[in-house]
Amino acid sequence: MKLVICKDYDEASLKASEIVINQIKNKPNSVIGLATGSTPVGLYKKLIEGFKNGEISFKQVTTFNLDEYLGISHNHPESYHAFMRDNLFKDVDIQEKNIHIPSSDLKNAEKNALNYTKALQKVQVDIQLLGIGTNGHIGFNEPGSSFDNETFAIALTEQTRHDNLRFFNTIEEVPTHAVTMGIKTIYRSKKIILMATGLTKADAIYGMLKGPITPDLPASALRNHPDLVVIIDELAASKL
Ligand code: F6R
Repeated sequence: MKLVICKDYDEASLKASEIVINQIKNKPNSVIGLATGSTPVGLYKKLIEGFKNGEISFKQVTTFNLDEYLGISHNHPESYHAFMRDNLFKDVDIQEKNIHIPSSDLKNAEKNALNYTKALQKVQVDIQLLGIGTNGHIGFNEPGSSFDNETFAIALTEQTRHDNLRFFNTIEEVPTHAVTMGIKTIYRSKKIILMATGLTKADAIYGMLKGPITPDLPASALRNHPDLVVIIDELAASKL
């Protein structure tokens, strides 16, 4: 495991973007696993800059997103489909056919999750980007999720729904279910970059890196991954 402690969010975004940009330069047809949430926004801005200044192209890049809410339309402004379009895809030359995001269709969630797993089993993800929840979740693998899961549908905990309330008007609007790559799927990536910034993430980072490896803190499952890079700021590192 490589731990990179940065001064602040901007530096963390820069460090993560350097790794992703080098990956795409060295292997233009890279497969990149993407995350949403507030953490990777700065990194995506830097990838867009890299595209605009001609450093990288996404023409041959394939992406697989980690997760999506269930039961909201792909056009809902808080869906992860919309998030990816607004924060990365609309500004780079990625081909629509190379973009994979789990479907938000609640009714067919099980079948769609199985198909997503099958699609992921056909490729090798070169880099998986991750954030971390205040409760140590990764993707939507909430505390208690088995380390053996592939892509699956899950009911969100009240803590995660409250964490995500800032993106919605009322708690009733926050979806109750989501679909996520499982920990087994995430673990298969060649490289994993987990980013976290701010004091609210300090306990989760401590638990991930210093606590027991346990489904109670899903991110702890990654600690023995052969190529894990943890990029955090001083606040997120403050309890280490
Ligand atoms: C998003 C995701 C979530 C977030 C986590 C942190 O695709 O998988 O696990 O990474 O909830 O969210 P932020 O970055 O908003 O603090």
